[in-house]
Amino acid sequence: MGQDKSMKKIVFILLSALSILGKCHAGNSQGAYEAMFTFGDSLSDTGNYVGFHDPSDIEVLNKLPYGKTFFGKPTGRFCDGRIILDFIAEAYGLPFVPPYADVIHGKVQNIRQGVNFAVAGATALDANFILSKRNQKPIKTMESLDVQVGWFKKLKPSLCSNEQDCARLFKKSLFFVGEIGGNDLGLLGFNFSTAGETIPLIVEAITNATITLIEEGAVHLVVPGNPPMGCTAGFIKSGLSKDQYDSRGCFKRLNTLVELENKEIKQAVSELKKKYPHVTITFFDYYGAANQFYDAPQKYGFSEMLKPCFVAKACNDTAKTYTCGFLCENPATYTNWDGAHYTEAAYKIIAQSVIDGHFSHPPLKHPLKKIA
Ligand SMILES: *[C@@H]1O[C@H](CO)[C@@H](O)[C@H](O)[C@H]1NC(C)=O
Ligand SMILES: *[C@@H]1O[C@H](CO)[C@@H](O)[C@H](O)[C@H]1NC(C)=O
Ligand SMILES: *[C@@H]1O[C@H](CO)[C@@H](O)[C@H](O)[C@H]1NC(C)=O
Repeated sequence: MGQDKSMKKIVFILLSALSILGKCHAGNSQGAYEAMFTFGDSLSDTGNYVGFHDPSDIEVLNKLPYGKTFFGKPTGRFCDGRIILDFIAEAYGLPFVPPYADVIHGKVQNIRQGVNFAVAGATALDANFILSKRNQKPIKTMESLDVQVGWFKKLKPSLCSNEQDCARLFKKSLFFVGEIGGNDLGLLGFNFSTAGETIPLIVEAITNATITLIEEGAVHLVVPGNPPMGCTAGFIKSGLSKDQYDSRGCFKRLNTLVELENKEIKQAVSELKKKYPHVTITFFDYYGAANQFYDAPQKYGFSEMLKPCFVAKACNDTAKTYTCGFLCENPATYTNWDGAHYTEAAYKIIAQSVIDGHFSHPPLKHPLKKIA
């Protein structure tokens, strides 16, 4: 009996200690985010393109080696593993943000911790506008930023039940408006002679989406610039004269164009900050964050920064196995996954930079744990 009693006491003490620990833990997490709502293109897509598009369009993406490093299977991410949003979700103790397509198809129950609306190929500008500028030459993705924001508005009544409830949810929610705007440049031909006209429009579309989200109740927003696309394997034109490339081998013209766009996005964000002083809008310098590893690849364990780790090539068109392509031995030593997208290893460094504040102005709230 006596022993039993003391056991009970120990159990009780343990439980109290645990509950205090629990409270400390809750105390630490106070102020952190409890949901993520995200918009963008293939650099942020976690399954919307595969969820909404014709499977014949996406044969490669639906097979390994996509997902091989982390998930062990393809997930609709254009990556060998986790992307930036996944690392950020982990850091704040959140689940991987489910794609809106899975919500629509009834595969996701809990949407209170976030939804990802990003679709590969998406543009900041309305897709029909892009089509008109391309003389109707087709594009694959019609789900541009305005469409994605429209999905969010449509979903909102299922997210929260009334103004008070929505305010409570959004007070703790982190919104990512992009990155987006790289596809616009690409689909319009990376054209310098029209950039003076198109870049302000692209930035206006991003600004419009940000304002809509603020009006819908968002109070913590991240608006990223675009990465140095001139260092992205799939965009580097080969065989040009040497002066077209910088000392790292990146295609200068493209980077200059992205820099112009980023400068205007940053400017637009600083104007939004003045206009909406009650919300926190972080400009994330994606370009600078990615340049960390392009400038010093060895420091991050990369031995190859311009060639892709995976080049898909079907050796048998019927079987569509893609095994006749190239697959690098260790994706962690490559920055580029499949030509147009980063490897998990590269995304991890960029995600770290989103959180730690060197490239986020202002920095995000303290995460529960470090990205590892
Ligand atoms: C850039 O746009 C101009 C004006 O529309 C056009 O004449 C030119 O062919 C375009 N260049 C490229 C590379 O698309
Ligand atoms: C941004 O919103 C304004 C006001 O609704 C609208 O007139 C303008 O066309 C929008 N711009 C873009 C690029 O969507
Ligand atoms: C291609 O794959 C299909 C289906 O697996 C198979 O029937 C066919 O024999 C293969 N062709 C070649 C040339 O290997």
